Amino acid sequence: MSLLRTKTIEQSIADTDEPEYQLKKRLTALDLTVFGIGVIIGAGIFTLTGRAAKEFAGPSIAISFVLAAICCGLAALCYAEFSSTVPVSGSAYTFSYFSLGEIFAWIIGWDLLLELMLGASVVAQGWSAYAELFLQQIGLGWPESIGSESSVNVLAMLLVLVLTALATAGIKESMRVNLVLVAIKLFIVLFVIVAGFFYVKGSNLTPFIPPGVPAESGEVEITTPLFQALFGVAPSTFGVSGLIAGASLVFFAFIGFDVVATTAEEAKNPQRDLPRGILGSLAICTVLYVLVCIVITGMQNYTDISANAALATAFENVGRPGFATLIAAGAVAGLTTVVLTLMIGAARVVFAMSRDHLVPPSLGKTHPVWGTPYRLTIGIGVLVALVAGLTPIGKLEEMVNIGTLAAFTVVSIAVPLLRRKRPDIQRAFKVPLNPVLPIISALICVYLMLNLSIETWLRFGVWMLLGFVAYFIYGYKRSRVGREESEHRNIPA
Ligand code: ALA
Repeated sequence: MSLLRTKTIEQSIADTDEPEYQLKKRLTALDLTVFGIGVIIGAGIFTLTGRAAKEFAGPSIAISFVLAAICCGLAALCYAEFSSTVPVSGSAYTFSYFSLGEIFAWIIGWDLLLELMLGASVVAQGWSAYAELFLQQIGLGWPESIGSESSVNVLAMLLVLVLTALATAGIKESMRVNLVLVAIKLFIVLFVIVAGFFYVKGSNLTPFIPPGVPAESGEVEITTPLFQALFGVAPSTFGVSGLIAGASLVFFAFIGFDVVATTAEEAKNPQRDLPRGILGSLAICTVLYVLVCIVITGMQNYTDISANAALATAFENVGRPGFATLIAAGAVAGLTTVVLTLMIGAARVVFAMSRDHLVPPSLGKTHPVWGTPYRLTIGIGVLVALVAGLTPIGKLEEMVNIGTLAAFTVVSIAVPLLRRKRPDIQRAFKVPLNPVLPIISALICVYLMLNLSIETWLRFGVWMLLGFVAYFIYGYKRSRVGREESEHRNIPA
């Protein structure tokens, strides 16, 4: 079955030595953790927390975050095993190429693109909203006609283009900028927790899980979670089902730790540092998120929370507008790193695909001086700028989540499969309790996917269809692995 043709692990590693496609190995464990935190803490906590608490879960949004963190933690173990064993650019895409076969690899690469490019666009839009708020608060303002609510979001486009230039010039330089921005972001999150703590009222936190409310029409709608439609559960929000729908949404806030795995090839000591970078950044973020949720839902009744800028407006609501300005400024800095890192991740995935000739190989050439895949970085930057600038701020987060959860599911399943297929390879980090944990990981991912809306599933279906068409038109025929396979067949024994 040539759709399931696989690349060998040895081949994947050997590919990284080709001079024209070589990335520089300069990242340390600290760089990787900073990189992880840089991409994880973003629009998820700064923006989505408010919407998820207000519309789905109330104070129990803190539990939603814990659920999403468990899902990501299990997947992170699987990512850590793969990326410490085979430190090659491309993350889940590469892992599935040698464990499951080409068609799966393609699907995952396609999913990752959805996650990373759409994710970058969504966060750039969130950034523009905070930037506008900030400019307004310091008395400068920004014309509404080209603002975040208009049909052409110029601020978001400008941000993406500047970051594209930075990413093209070289990853180490981007990392340095990242370090400063991540420090500011961590400070702001800690500030929200500490300053907000003094305004928390116990009465706002009870009941912790608001009682379930049946959906207004009582009918299944396009926005109903697929799970409720499939299993005939009466559509409702809040209560336990709200808490779970909340988890599927705030899952967005954790996206990014997997991007650490996409830079595997650039790590100095990947076997030791990748698991540290992945699990470390995830653990730090989980603790911060849960604390932020408790503080924000404790400062005001969840029905009064702002759906767009929860962290800043919570302080306005308790009479501290100065704090709100500071937080808006921090969000502007914080969201910048997320967009940057997601775009770098997207370029790395397509880079890996171009090396395998599933997309045109000329796209993936690295620059002789900068050492980055510059054509891809620029191309992706332009696409992200267009999506961020021209699509209305909307439900795209859910699309990002479904793509990512699909990739997590496949990576989880791939761990036990590869253990069977290649017991001989040295694994620097191993998922404990294999195959139980990887299977639980896959099941939780699928469960969260099912709790996303029917609308999201339909859009996801269209995206996948486009992916298959692209594969059969180009990758299937040109694939390097495929070509090598047929050359072998043609050599008489
Ligand atoms: N986790 C990233 C964010 O929340 C994508 O913005």
